[in-house]
Amino acid sequence: MSQQAFEKANQLQAEIEAANPASIEELEQFRIKYLGSKGMLRGLFGEIKTVDNDRKREFGQLINAIKESSETKFRSLLDGLEAKADTGKGDLDLSAPGEPFPIGSRHPVSILMNRIVEIFERIGFVVAEDREIEDDWHNFTAMNTPADHPARDMQDTFYLMNDPAMLLRTHTSSVQSRVMTSQKPPIRIIAPGRVYRNETISARSHCQFHQVEGLYVDENVSFADMKQTLYYFARELYGDTKIRLRPSYFPFTEPSAEMDVYWGLKDEIDHKITKGTGWLEVLGCGMVDPEVLENCGIDSKKYTGFAFGMGIDRQAMLKYRISDIRYLFENDVRFLKQFSSAI
Ligand code: DAH
Repeated sequence: MSQQAFEKANQLQAEIEAANPASIEELEQFRIKYLGSKGMLRGLFGEIKTVDNDRKREFGQLINAIKESSETKFRSLLDGLEAKADTGKGDLDLSAPGEPFPIGSRHPVSILMNRIVEIFERIGFVVAEDREIEDDWHNFTAMNTPADHPARDMQDTFYLMNDPAMLLRTHTSSVQSRVMTSQKPPIRIIAPGRVYRNETISARSHCQFHQVEGLYVDENVSFADMKQTLYYFARELYGDTKIRLRPSYFPFTEPSAEMDVYWGLKDEIDHKITKGTGWLEVLGCGMVDPEVLENCGIDSKKYTGFAFGMGIDRQAMLKYRISDIRYLFENDVRFLKQFSSAI
């Protein structure tokens, strides 16, 4: 009698070892057939009663071993098949190619501002950045524009409601007074940044825009130095062109000038770009007024300097053929994406 039960057990063991379910469904059939509550292993436990007493213990150990190895086999098959079904859904595959990482785009104003800064850095100017919420003194008074000065009307100012001595800077010239009150000459800075003026928003003007300011203070700095520096700049940015300086007025420079770059009439279809003159107004500049140097604690008998300031947004519009300044501030990705390849 015992012999038969042992043979059954060995046969079942061989059968289970040979089974090779290839899918989750086949594995489930395997489980039901061998491990289920009505499965063949259960049946084998029923055979115990047919085994002779002196071999019961041996038989019990055998079928327990079969049961354990069957369960182990089931679990490892299940793990394998589930992992297969899951491929790409969380299993870490170190050999898989990386997910493409979308590269953002640079704003056209940043592109141009970075280029301008880089052009001046090449000849020894260093970047200076300062606050946008500024006090009246640094923005106006130090820059030779006291409270009753008519030039204040040229720059409609946003004052802070709870503190009228504070304002949103109307130009990056405020960085000049910040730097001159905290550093000793030689000073050679380039200051990019955002500025604000209380102007009606239209296709051509906005209440916020961008400027780049330059300042050079040292012994024996001359108007000729300024002209040559600006000529170098114009050629680096606009290519093989010429410049002209027209006399102008700014409270913080004496003498003052405006610089035009020759653009030509080639794009002058609607006479909007250069108003039919071929010349593009690019920046304001001049020799730093001795009054400004003194206001900032710099000896105007020993030092002289030149300064310049330019708007970025109009130049960016021209360069990248943007028809409406408001696009620059709307952050519409359809607009911004067009500049993704530019650095
Ligand atoms: N701050 C002037 C403006 O916003 C521009 C300017 C003119 C800056 C002449 C300068 C300068 O540094 O020398 O209109």
